[in-house]
Order: sequence, then C-alpha cells, then structure tokens
Amino acid sequence: MDYQVVVVGGGPGGYVCAIRCAQLGLRVGLLEERELGGVCLNWGCVPTKALYAATKLIERASTADEMGIGFPPPSIDLTKLAAWKARVVSKLVGGIETLLDKNGVDVHRARGRLDGSGRVALASGETLTAERIVLATGSSPIEIPGFPFDDPLVWSSDDALALTEIPDRLVVIGGGVIGLELATIYRRLGSSVTVIELLPEILSAVDLDRRTLGVVKRSLAEQGIDVRTGTAADSYEPAKDALAVRLNSGESLEADRVLLAVGRRPNTADLGLASVDLEPEPSGVLAVDDSLETRARGVHAIGDLVAGPMLAHKASAEGVALADALAGGETRVLDHETIPQAIFTDPEIASVGLSERAAKERGREILVGRFPYAALGKALGMRDASGFFQIVADAGDHRVLGAQIVGAEASDLISEAAVALQAGLTLEAIADAVHPHPTLPEGLKEAAENALGRAIHTVNR
Ligand code: NAI
Repeated sequence: MDYQVVVVGGGPGGYVCAIRCAQLGLRVGLLEERELGGVCLNWGCVPTKALYAATKLIERASTADEMGIGFPPPSIDLTKLAAWKARVVSKLVGGIETLLDKNGVDVHRARGRLDGSGRVALASGETLTAERIVLATGSSPIEIPGFPFDDPLVWSSDDALALTEIPDRLVVIGGGVIGLELATIYRRLGSSVTVIELLPEILSAVDLDRRTLGVVKRSLAEQGIDVRTGTAADSYEPAKDALAVRLNSGESLEADRVLLAVGRRPNTADLGLASVDLEPEPSGVLAVDDSLETRARGVHAIGDLVAGPMLAHKASAEGVALADALAGGETRVLDHETIPQAIFTDPEIASVGLSERAAKERGREILVGRFPYAALGKALGMRDASGFFQIVADAGDHRVLGAQIVGAEASDLISEAAVALQAGLTLEAIADAVHPHPTLPEGLKEAAENALGRAIHTVNR
C-alpha cells in the first residue's frame, strides 16, 4: 500500500502524530504490533496512576482517625484491583482505536521495519511505501548484569504493574521516577520496601531543588520506605523461595521480589535502520534535526527515540509538531524546558523550567518565591498540607523561568506555571490573576506574590 506518511509505533507519540496527519488531509498508515497506546497507556503512566489513586485510599483511610472517622483494616482483592486497572486501560485504548478509525488512519496490527528508502516491511510479508516515515517505537527497561528479567523473581515495571502478587519484601533497584512511584504503591499495598540507588541522591535525572527533594525524602522515611543512596546492587542468589540481593557494601538484603528500575533505552533494535544507513548514537537515541528528521532523508523520529525527557506528553507534542510540518506548516521546535514533569510519589512532585539551582548555575539574576501548603485552607481541609510551591523568575523583567510544586495534586497544579513559561508571562500575571478561594492553585499565586515581596498569607522575605 502507498501512503504519504507511515508511522511506526502506536504510543502517545505515534498515534497522536498519525491522527494529526490525517486531520490535515494526509494519507497515513500506523503500525502497532502490540496494544495501541503503547507503554504509557498499557504498562506505564495510566496503570500507575490508577494504582496510585487506588492505594492512596488505603493510606487515607488508615489515617482518618484524626478526623474522627474510622475504618476497619483494608482487605485487598488483588484480582479485582488488577481487573479494575485493566478496565481503565481498555477504555482508553478503545477510545484511541475509535479516534484512529474516525480520523481515517489505516491501522496495521503488525511489526514493521525499514526496508530501504520510503519502504516499510511488515512481519506479515506486506510492504508499505511512503513519502515520509515516522519512527515512534518508544523505549524499554534497561537490564543490568546479574538481574535478568527472564527470572520471575526479577520484576520490570511491566511485571510490577501486572499486580500478580504483593511481595512481603520488595527491593527496588533504582531511586529514579519509576522506582519511587512503584515503591510508593507497593508500600501502600503492604510490602516492606527498600530502594537501592547508585548515586548519592534520588531522582537525580530530574532538575529538582534540594528543598523539594527534602520534602519527598522525609515523606518516604515516614512511609517506612528504606532508601539507600550511594549503594549498588551487585547480584542476587536464591534463598528459600526468595532471594538475597548482594550490595556493593558487602551487605545482603533478603527479598521476595526485586524490581529493576534503572532507566529505559530507546527501541531501535530490529528496525531496519541499516537499510537507510542509520545507526543510533552511543546513548541509544537517534539524532534528529529541528524538523525531527534523522540523517536519512524522509525518515523522522519522535518521543523516547530522540533526545529529551522520556515523557508521554513530550512524545505527543513532538508528534503534533511533526505532523503540522509534514502537512506543509512551519517547523516548530519544542523547547524542552517548557515540558512539565509530574512524579507520583507521595506527596506528588511537579516541575517545569529551571530549578533555583540551575538558574543560579546559569548566572541568572533571579527572584524566588515560595508558599507552604500548610498555609492553604483547602490543603488543611483535605488533611494534605505538607509541601510547598516555588516559583523562579528573572529579577529584571520578572518573566517566569521555572516552578516546582511538591504536595497534594502537584501534578495538576503545575500546568498554570507551564502556561506562564510557554507564554513568557511574568510573576505579576500570576499574582494579579484572581484565583478562587479556597483552592490549591492559590499556592502558586501566593508564591508569585512572595517573589514580588507582597504575599498576604506568608511572611515576605
Ligand atoms: P531514571 O533515570 O529516572 O532512574 C533510574 C535510577 O536508577 C537512576 O537514579 C540511576 O542512578 C539508578 N541506577 C542505575 N543503575 C543502578 C544500579 N546498578 N543500582 C542502583 N541504582 C542504579 O529511570 P526510570 O525510573 O527507570 O525511568 C525511565 C524513564 O521514564 C525516565 O526518563 C523517567 O523520567 C520516565 N518516566 C517518567 C515518569 C513520570 O514522569 N511520572 C513515570 C515513569 C517513567
């Protein structure tokens, strides 16, 4: 079959790109060998958030006594919980199927690989031809020596999200985003959890200030999650239906399961890259220019395959920008600094733009404002008042450079700061906008006022 655009991979980069291409009148084919929606919908963001919400209920109920409300200890039916999570996922996947269909995208349920310029060979034997090919094949968890995923005792994030059991003792290798999100979920489900992190600090791949990390680290300790930084896991050996994880300190940790979450690597193997004289960089990513085109003419790449944060919304934004350009629009280059990140630890962390530290390292003259959740009536009423809002702005023109929020619903609250950053808004734009009371977004407004030295509900420095 002949297309104007063939997209390889139906995750949040690929399916979004395909839909936008079709909306703009391009004849487009989409290849997906597994489930539409990719890792994010099926084995990543969406199931994690469903389980985050479900397990938060357990934590909330267990501490409601302070408000005079008591519950019996929770009973957890893992099969039902997994089925509920699967229904959430399948509703969204079904929605994508419908959207692709209604927009006129041809979906081929097959694996594809490049087969020379302008050609994609399907596993079924069919060959598709296209003027433009978009690679959007995502990434997979990295395996480290000594911890093979084919041992059922060693979990990848996919295994952890499959919810087959609640291990009594879970050792998580990697104190990054995935490791800490799943540590939070399994701790709430009742596992005793130890996190092993090689580097001296957790979440080191994200630009977070020490103060922000401090809130999270205190909370992890309060939840009883044992975090060991500056520690590596060397290997493991079987020990009575379980395993013993040997650490570089010489210590051994007994565990029932070990979850490996040490990063992800772009999926470039068996993509036929050599047929168009392409090879990935040593880091695994495909190099692209401003129009997301690889060094092979007519072959583009988006999402986890290319540089930048491995985030679903970054992949989608690239998919849309690329589709617009392929349909004849102008080339829009995504500024990675305007991409927000939301991390589902307890409390949640969300950030966009520069941290205070990064702004200072760049020699920027800045204003910084903060506001604590503890001073927000809504947060106190929710019994969820730890954490703070922080906003960083240029000291000269007051344009917002970044924000970090650590606390209740931080993932939902960061978007106001993301809009400010993207639109080049100033502290005054946020401070002078009337925010409804009592709500959590008042925290960002007060932080902006604090940066200007005129917050009402906190003492200005
Ligand atoms: P990550 O890069 O965030 O964290 C991996 C951690 O493992 C690092 O801190 C690293 O120092 C540590 N590590 C590496 N080798 C180790 C070893 N041998 N022993 C102990 N620690 C070791 O990667 P992660 O958590 O696997 O996530 C992969 C990607 O997916 C990231 O880019 C992340 O941003 C993204 N993601 C984002 C989410 C979100 O924003 N909510 C959710 C899930 C994934």
